Amino acid sequence: MPGTRRPLVSGNWKMHHNHFEAIQMVQKLAYILNPADHDVVDVSVHPPFTDIRSVQTVIESDEMRLVLGAQHCHFEERGAFTGEVSPGMLAKLNVALVIVGHSERREVFGETDDDVRLKAAAVLANGMTPIFCCGETREEREAGGTDAKVTGQVKAGLAGLSQDQMAGLVIAYEPIWAIGTGLTATPEDAQAACRVVRGVVAEGWGQSTADSVRIQYGGSVKPVNAPDLMMQPDIDGLLVGGASLDPDEFARIVAYHRLIG
Ligand code: 13P
Repeated sequence: MPGTRRPLVSGNWKMHHNHFEAIQMVQKLAYILNPADHDVVDVSVHPPFTDIRSVQTVIESDEMRLVLGAQHCHFEERGAFTGEVSPGMLAKLNVALVIVGHSERREVFGETDDDVRLKAAAVLANGMTPIFCCGETREEREAGGTDAKVTGQVKAGLAGLSQDQMAGLVIAYEPIWAIGTGLTATPEDAQAACRVVRGVVAEGWGQSTADSVRIQYGGSVKPVNAPDLMMQPDIDGLLVGGASLDPDEFARIVAYHRLIG
């Protein structure tokens, strides 16, 4: 049911912060966030692979209420895949959330819908939750193709998942033209696309599954636009890039709930 989905604000650090900086980041973030934030919002951090072990150790030893995430993984468990990291390796580090199909992975590294589908399934098979990303380019939006693009990505990338798997999933709608550009989708446009995503889930997996799945918006999220985005009925969280690199700024995004009650 809408309203029962627990909000999730995630910081995707991309290729920023070495492991020393990462430790300082989470320590500062944990210090700034207060128990009231954690009571109402799940907060995850997604550092680069080289930081994950350090961040895990700090989160666990200091009993921080931060959720540990990763940005990417391969779908195979092991093998001759130079440079890749398997879902099992992440699970062993108590990673809970893995971003799959980020537009930078799709556009810069050539990941296909099929790769993303295999990754989402592999993440689930290892007991973790995918944050499945979708979103349109500026050209696609201008040509009126937003709904078709997002619908196609969700159907292709999540095909074969069970209702239970889908119900626990996180889907991030990130319009590519809004990523790192300072251009944010209006709350209304973001809501419209997130509603389309929920509709695709309802069509494929049933309404109650669609009511459970958490949908994030991502793309130039800042403290100033977070409350309006989070007031939209189909937006259950935020996937934050640049603004998650500064603990103060990220904490102010998490604090959106104090403004909207
Ligand atoms: P920005 O918040 O920097 O636009 O990045 C969004 C993003 O890609 C998060 O995954």
